[in-house]
Amino acid sequence: MPSAATARAARVTDDAEADGDDERTIIGFFCRECAYAAADATGNARIPLPATVRSVLVPCTGRVGPLHVLSALAEGADGVFLAGCLEGQCHHREGNLSAIDRVAFVQRLLASVGVEPERVQMFTMSAADSPRFVAATRQMHATISGLPRLGRR
Ligand code: FES
Repeated sequence: MPSAATARAARVTDDAEADGDDERTIIGFFCRECAYAAADATGNARIPLPATVRSVLVPCTGRVGPLHVLSALAEGADGVFLAGCLEGQCHHREGNLSAIDRVAFVQRLLASVGVEPERVQMFTMSAADSPRFVAATRQMHATISGLPRLGRR
């Protein structure tokens, strides 16, 4: 169950409301072992993050498939990112390496149909690396804010 601190980390409002980008939605799939711990530390430190990001706790980024990412985009997200353990440090052996490959696959798929591939990204970090989590989250927010809303028909 997400802690109150993590909920704060994923939904702090200050930056995005000031930017006028609060209508955007970015889904972040965070692995339980590293990225979610980094998100928790960020929330405990009360570091402001864009309100555009909604977090989804997963056991490992290796459990996130292309259909999860594409479904998020199809159902309203403007961007999706995965945050997992550092390469070589996945707690489920090579889940993060599979995730890196799947993100690259989805990026190629998006590009092939004329959708900006940078809408989907992968980041890795240690559980103690709150600054990297903050940087990844803000980078996604900046990227998605610079793109038009994702059109759906
Ligand atoms: Fe973190 Fe696999 S457990 S990416």
